[in-house]
Amino acid sequence: MSAPLHIAVLMGGWSSEREVSLMSGKGVADALESRGHRVTRIDMGHDVAGRLAAAKPDIVFNALHGTPGEDGSVQGMLDLMRLKYTHSGLATSVIAIDKQLTKLLLVPAGIPMPGGRIVKSETLYEGDPLPRPYVLKPVNEGSSVGVAIVTAEGNYGSPIGRDVAGPWSEFDELLAEPYIRGRELTTAVLGGQALGVTELKPKNGWYDFDAKYTDGLTEHVCPAQIPDDIAEACKRIALAAHRVLGCKGASRSDFRWDDERGIDGLFLLEVNTQPGMTPLSLVPEQARHLGMSYADLVQAIVDEALAEP
Ligand SMILES: Nc1ncnc2c1ncn2[C@@H]1O[C@H](COP(=O)(O)OP(=O)(O)O)[C@@H](O)[C@H]1O
Ligand SMILES: [Mg+2]
Repeated sequence: MSAPLHIAVLMGGWSSEREVSLMSGKGVADALESRGHRVTRIDMGHDVAGRLAAAKPDIVFNALHGTPGEDGSVQGMLDLMRLKYTHSGLATSVIAIDKQLTKLLLVPAGIPMPGGRIVKSETLYEGDPLPRPYVLKPVNEGSSVGVAIVTAEGNYGSPIGRDVAGPWSEFDELLAEPYIRGRELTTAVLGGQALGVTELKPKNGWYDFDAKYTDGLTEHVCPAQIPDDIAEACKRIALAAHRVLGCKGASRSDFRWDDERGIDGLFLLEVNTQPGMTPLSLVPEQARHLGMSYADLVQAIVDEALAEP
């Protein structure tokens, strides 16, 4: 067993994924305590720097999701404080939180992602930016927050009605992407290895916030029952994306796969640099399938961060 450390677990914060992060943080903190570490649990507020300075941990476990824990801000603060921390660093976080910036880096590296473009929300009231069906989403949210699927049936109106609720009333700009029909896949990467492929099967509708976090609303098929070449491609692409972006610790790449198009129907949607770490989350599930317990996984993430110069 590795030497006991004093580890600060950062969780909570004020993003739309606050509640998820509190669950990730609790899971991580409990696991670290079970391994004999001393843990300081910090529900992040604007006084976080002072609290970390007072706690003087050996290392920080970042269990935050969304802004500012996943967008480089917290990473920059920790760099300035000369505190070691888990998961990706500042530059990687800034890029990966932004779905459009991610594309600008990964598509030239040969990674298949849906086309599409940034649109001003105001212009959506005049007409469709892409042929229907298409997806609108904020560039830097998570957990499917603010994602709208605009279908040919004229949901939201045609063009989108000013009086209809949707991300266009909340965000000045949105990413518009062609809707990829088919199946929902995800692959975790840790320590230079792609762990596996999970298929997410929402019981009704699509993989929205409720489907992600309400018990029983989505079936996780791990490992996914898909052809070997698709599974291998998910792993290869997730590993390549992790490396090109310079991710550290665990990352998780989300895919859509149009199973009518074979390998040409596989598209990376995004890379999560602070993936969910509740004991029931996808990354721990893939690790477990490889024989790695939740506590082993948490310890491995800490070990990778400690090994950083
Ligand atoms: N281009 C797309 N085609 C089909 N479904 C999509 C597309 N983009 C997003 N989605 C759906 O929205 C979900 C969330 O999108 P994603 O890009 O992973 O952002 P986040 O998980 O950060 O909210 C996906 O898991 C998928 O179900
Ligand atoms: Mg996603």
